[in-house]
Amino acid sequence: MKKGRVFSGARPTGQQHIGNYLGAIQNYVALQDEYECVYCIVDIHALTTLDDTHLLQANIREMALDWLAAGIDPERSIMFVQSHVPEITELFTYMGMITPMGWLTRVPTFKEKVRMHPDNVNYGLLGYPVLMASDIILYKADTVPVGEDQLPHLELTREIVRRFTSIFGEVFPEPKAKLTEIPLIIGLDGANKMSKSLDNQIDIAATPEETIKRVSTAYTDPTRIRRSDPGHPDTCNVYTLHGAFTKIIAPDKYAPIEEACKKAEVGCVACKKLLGESINEYLRPFREKRAEITGRKSYLEEVLADGARRASAIAKETLHEVKEKMGLA
Ligand code: AMP
Ligand code: TRP
Repeated sequence: MKKGRVFSGARPTGQQHIGNYLGAIQNYVALQDEYECVYCIVDIHALTTLDDTHLLQANIREMALDWLAAGIDPERSIMFVQSHVPEITELFTYMGMITPMGWLTRVPTFKEKVRMHPDNVNYGLLGYPVLMASDIILYKADTVPVGEDQLPHLELTREIVRRFTSIFGEVFPEPKAKLTEIPLIIGLDGANKMSKSLDNQIDIAATPEETIKRVSTAYTDPTRIRRSDPGHPDTCNVYTLHGAFTKIIAPDKYAPIEEACKKAEVGCVACKKLLGESINEYLRPFREKRAEITGRKSYLEEVLADGARRASAIAKETLHEVKEKMGLA
């Protein structure tokens, strides 16, 4: 007997980075043992900001390959593309009717997008969290694995559910976020969230050479100027990443890093080389599996078509219930 239902989604940004992996995908994979899981590539959400729509299909493919390579099992879990189950747009419209404008203009990601792209503030962008809430509740999910940046969206989802319940009665559970041990990964710039748009990321599917090269550009402890200066691992992003990779892959090499850094016995160049090697070792099985499934003709299309079929069955049932409660049926 499964504990409940998990739903998560991510915008098709193409190849996934280690921030996506450590913040979210790791939990997508782990939760499959205990929950019924639904994982969605949210292509409609991508339209709120994506100018390069001609890249959308390629980006969906790259992301789906990364998910499968990371261990999402399409036999046990449902993996599909958002627009392939069009019931979502109907639920989104209904949820828009019960969501006050003030809740949406307050959302931090909306404010940030308005600041960054003042020339493209569209209605869809304001509705982004309503669409996300609709994703989650269409599948009546109770658990949502996401990175820390998504917590305000989850809180809003819970508010929308409470409002729906108080007006129309109970249909949806109030979903809870599920964070990983490291829910926010900082990028190679040592300052901002790891993200493709800031070009501060390490892609899961990068080659070993690219990985070593990119890690070598990572910012380390800014107060350590000379090789002989003592380092501060507690504020160094490279050390945090050692905790995610070296600690797992080579615990004997991980244990001495902290002391060696503090005593200036190891320099940042060597420390980053070790990190690059650990990441490569950790990701080797993913990269091998990815190459293997990339070569399987029409496999991905079959997985996504099967996922859409199974997701659609759940979506239709929920929508029927919603329409009855709202007086539409
Ligand atoms: P996105 O690629 O922004 O659509 O994010 C997909 C998932 O990865 C979401 O659950 C995010 O919270 C998570 N995520 C993205 N970037 C990071 C990061 N730098 N650290 C931790 N989690 C992240
Ligand atoms: N907003 C999420 C992000 O940017 C993507 C997303 C859309 C999502 N729908 C969702 C995440 C439902 C969890 C559940 O990453």
